[in-house]
Amino acid sequence: MNKTELYLGGCLEEMDKLIRQNIQVDAIITDPPFNLVGKIGADKMHMFRQGAKCKDSSMTEEKMSFDTGFSQEAWLDRIPKLLKKDGNIIIFNDWENMGDIAKYLRARGIKVKNLNHWQKTNPQPAEWRRRFVGGREYILHAVKGKIVFNVEKLHKGVFEYPLTPQREKKHGKHPNQKPISLMEEIIGILSNKGQIILDPFMGSGTTGVACKNLDREFIGIEMEEEYFKIAEKRINNVDNSEQEQEKSMK
Ligand SMILES: C[S@@+](CC[C@H](N)C(=O)[O-])C[C@H]1O[C@@H](n2cnc3c(N)ncnc32)[C@H](O)[C@@H]1O
Repeated sequence: MNKTELYLGGCLEEMDKLIRQNIQVDAIITDPPFNLVGKIGADKMHMFRQGAKCKDSSMTEEKMSFDTGFSQEAWLDRIPKLLKKDGNIIIFNDWENMGDIAKYLRARGIKVKNLNHWQKTNPQPAEWRRRFVGGREYILHAVKGKIVFNVEKLHKGVFEYPLTPQREKKHGKHPNQKPISLMEEIIGILSNKGQIILDPFMGSGTTGVACKNLDREFIGIEMEEEYFKIAEKRINNVDNSEQEQEKSMK
């Protein structure tokens, strides 16, 4: 395969095509829909991330339409065939869905390691007078076989990074865009140079940008054309200043 392969389409169909080509990857690192619109209501989504006073929201019902009624089970079904015998899995999701995701994975012979989190160092203080502002996104780690785990010292599974900076959104906004530095830390621990990472819900392509920065091969799938185009621009070096900026900050 080429070092980077990006597919515009539904992940089930695209994952099945990869399986038919006997492609297997070293790690699946992904951030599928959270089903938050159904839980919180589209009219309140902006408050969840951006605070009650923020009017300029990328979290409209239309922009978050991919989130409504999303089912995790079908894509989790494809993991055993796509992941090599020694492979890592990282799944971002809402805490309420994590129990089900862990259960589905175990039923498919995958070992669930633990639940970790991205601690936002500057969370939006939405409703801070009425609730604790956790500013956390949960990250499930699961494995198949004998995995890569590159750490020099004990890692508590707490990834501390600020919200995604504006300079990483210059090719367009995605409502759930992750910071490149967060994805680089995860990918650096769970894979080696030259290994293949799959993100079947790549959104604006942050996993792909991090893979490129760290010399990993990348397969990305995204069904929304608007987000796919942002990912293509970010990953395919149309303008590499975003990556260069990140590197110079390390
Ligand atoms: C939570 S976002 C991922 C954001 C990404 N981590 C980033 O940094 O930009 C989930 C993405 O999955 C996409 N998606 C939802 N259902 C999909 C499907 N069945 N196949 C492929 N992509 C899908 C959505 O369009 C959305 O962009």
